[in-house]
Amino acid sequence: MSDSKKIIATNGVITIRELTDSDLPKLTEYANNPKVAINLRDAFPNPYALEDAIRFKAAIDKQNPKTIFAIEFKGEYVGNISLSPGTDVYRKSAEIGYFIGEPFWNMGIMSKAVDLITEWGFKTLDIVRIYTGVFEFNKASQRVLEKCGFSKEAVLRKSICKYDLIYDEIRYAKLKE
Ligand SMILES: CC(C)(COP(=O)(O)OP(=O)(O)OC[C@H]1O[C@@H](n2cnc3c(N)ncnc32)[C@H](O)[C@@H]1OP(=O)(O)O)[C@@H](O)C(=O)NCCC(=O)NCCS
Repeated sequence: MSDSKKIIATNGVITIRELTDSDLPKLTEYANNPKVAINLRDAFPNPYALEDAIRFKAAIDKQNPKTIFAIEFKGEYVGNISLSPGTDVYRKSAEIGYFIGEPFWNMGIMSKAVDLITEWGFKTLDIVRIYTGVFEFNKASQRVLEKCGFSKEAVLRKSICKYDLIYDEIRYAKLKE
């Protein structure tokens, strides 16, 4: 069991740090929510069990450098955020991804976390672009990205199949100043 908390970025209230074993029960609790899973790729388990969290952490432990982190709010684990650099011709871009437990929604936490990891990414990683895709019905995530200065770049029409229904994906990106 490793429980060191290597900090990536913090504003004193919200901290992005490495995931620890002691986060896994809360990760399981927050991730085991259909209102979270519907917004994410099918690779995100639903339902979500402690074994899924343990497997997830084991995969992160093998990463070097790590691309998936925990979000802490006032010292408490609340969710995850990732920044994954591309390969080949996409190697100067990184994809951002995130989720936060429902008890913490609409408190401004993810907007701050996205700002923190974006600033960290542009300063630390050799990238010029951070991007993501949001399912058309996920207005909260679109609002987060807009608040964080991401531009809406494209609508990939009917590109998403989630639970057998077809949706558009809205693509957002922010460039290094
Ligand atoms: C999307 C998510 C990350 C937002 O996190 P959060 O910490 O609640 O975000 P914030 O509080 O910083 O901002 C949310 C914004 O969306 C707005 N919002 C919430 N629900 C909304 C809705 N149905 N329609 C329009 N705006 C909405 C909030 O009012 C807020 O905007 P404001 O600050 O202008 O009032 C969180 O809901 C979540 O984890 N959802 C499940 C997983 C997910 O969707 N991940 C992203 C996949 S792309």
